[in-house]
Amino acid sequence: MNRSNIAIRAGIFHFLDKGKYEFIEDGLLVVIDGLVHEIGPFDELGHKWQGVLPFLNESDHLLIPGFVDGHIHAVQNGVMASYGSQLMDWLHQYTFPYEAKFADMDFCQEDISVFFDEMLSNGTTTAAIYSSVHKNSIECIMSEATERNMRIISGKTNMDRGAPEELLEDSTNTYKETADLIEKYHKYKRISYALSPRFALTSTGEQLKQLGDLKKKYPEIPVQTHISENKEEIVQVKTLFPERKDYLEVYEYYGLLGKNSLLGHAIYLSDNEWDRVKKSDASLIHCPTSNLFLGSGLFDLQRSLLMNIPVALGSDVGGGTSFSMLRTAAAAYEIAALQDFKPSALDLFYILSLGGAKALGLENKIGNFEVGKEADFLIINSEKPSILKLRTQGKIPIEDFLFALMMLGDKESIKAVYLMGDRIA
Ligand code: GUN
Ligand code: ZN
Repeated sequence: MNRSNIAIRAGIFHFLDKGKYEFIEDGLLVVIDGLVHEIGPFDELGHKWQGVLPFLNESDHLLIPGFVDGHIHAVQNGVMASYGSQLMDWLHQYTFPYEAKFADMDFCQEDISVFFDEMLSNGTTTAAIYSSVHKNSIECIMSEATERNMRIISGKTNMDRGAPEELLEDSTNTYKETADLIEKYHKYKRISYALSPRFALTSTGEQLKQLGDLKKKYPEIPVQTHISENKEEIVQVKTLFPERKDYLEVYEYYGLLGKNSLLGHAIYLSDNEWDRVKKSDASLIHCPTSNLFLGSGLFDLQRSLLMNIPVALGSDVGGGTSFSMLRTAAAAYEIAALQDFKPSALDLFYILSLGGAKALGLENKIGNFEVGKEADFLIINSEKPSILKLRTQGKIPIEDFLFALMMLGDKESIKAVYLMGDRIA
């Protein structure tokens, strides 16, 4: 792990808790050994640290926590913006054929390296990531993440039905192979291993049972999967699991629902499923650009906030149309607006940072600048794109600035990205 020391002068914004932020107009963030050591006004701390640590003056810019992407596929760069169809056709026509290419290690390395560069240059410093079904691809994800010292949650995607033959694994060994991967990668550097059954349609009950047994053995391990994204998908789940009363019960039955279960999409949950998600302490991952692009439907963000269910946003690349969590948050705002709910910039920046960290079970490591946390942060350039500069001229309230940044900002607005105090992009 890198052990960087640095003191950065900048405007500093972060959340201390839900609904409670700290904005230090002229602040200093002190990082020692890659961890937050001290934070406060520059005029109180500057004399103590200037000349002691490497010093960086970004006082014209805003420093914020790195973004959390709660749902992204490392093996779908090349299917982004593939025209035309809804989820099931899109998977079979574009996504599965593309994922088949990851059987080849050279292809994995090339494509997954671009994937990490794109995430980081867009300001994503923590992500929950899906691989392909191939062991190659998860090994490549783990090595790219550790090389860059990035905090990730990831695991080998499991599929033993419902996809082309070449993407199906022999699931007799799912338990043993996954246990080996957990032992190898869970808590290695900044990695958490996640059990990753793709969704109910691509795993047999036998495979889900083995994953559920692993969850019993390693209860703190996250689970990531998809649920109730598309109406046709839900009909097919009913056919494949006729003995389960609804989609959620498939995961419940096999012991895959609980704290640190990351449920992607969750657009068509019934009232009863919402209640059971709440009781289980699972997290919902809202993937707005993907839901718009594939025509999947409108996630009820307001309901998740009112029920106090942990929620993160996901770019869902390649169903999603952008790696940028700013573009993703803007789409979340627009989807909410279509349902007569106008979340504030504070609501959404909370979800992009501390709230997302909580949804991923990582709030003790990242999400804000509490002393002792890993110093992953961004320097925002408010002059790019030029329309953002125009919109934010003069002294404006921080909430208004963040709203404009969310609606107009993109990769250009991210001047620099730091992982544990080290500049990475
Ligand atoms: N459901 C199962 N697999 C996928 C996937 O790769 N993308 C999306 N958007 N939904 C899925
Ligand atoms: Zn997905």
